[in-house]
Amino acid sequence: MTALFPGSFDPVTLGHLDLLKRGVKIFDNIIVAVLHNAAKQPLFTVDERIAMLKSHVECMPNVQVQAYSGLLAEFANKQKARYILRGIRSEADCAYELPMAQANRQLGQASEKGLETVFLITDPAYAHVSSALVREAAAAGYASGFDDKVLEQWVSPYVKNMLKNKYNANLNLQKQIGG
Ligand code: PNS
Repeated sequence: MTALFPGSFDPVTLGHLDLLKRGVKIFDNIIVAVLHNAAKQPLFTVDERIAMLKSHVECMPNVQVQAYSGLLAEFANKQKARYILRGIRSEADCAYELPMAQANRQLGQASEKGLETVFLITDPAYAHVSSALVREAAAAGYASGFDDKVLEQWVSPYVKNMLKNKYNANLNLQKQIGG
């Protein structure tokens, strides 16, 4: 059984990694599918997001990391994956995930084996953690010179350093252009 674990991962959080660790106990193989959406302006490039993810799955032989664009159901078909793994943190997540899962199930009917979404509830320690929260705290924190150790409650030290480089580079650029 192969599952896709799709997302923007901008950046990957400890919540994502917890789901992945639990997912490998359920599925034989997991493909972490990183959305490359040319219409969106993510903080990290797709290559940076893939590098961050790869650094965490090196010791997980049944986990691969790949970029995709366009329809997730199409990518699942190409990869011969019949399952999508997603996490649920809250009621708001349910409202966001249910139509997506219904749509993916219908789109997946084009392949004879179908496409099911499997949800895992998030560990309560990460119920409030999102990539958006991490980006917001890092942006404001680095601008005001905080002790970035606090970010390690939400992301790995590797990702924290990527955030530090990104925001310090952005701050230097703003200073140069007088922003
Ligand atoms: O981490 P995110 O941003 O919540 O992940 C959302 C994601 C990337 C899984 C979803 O937006 C997606 O797969 N987009 C690609 C287009 C698609 O297939 N959408 C679902 C059916 S309409």
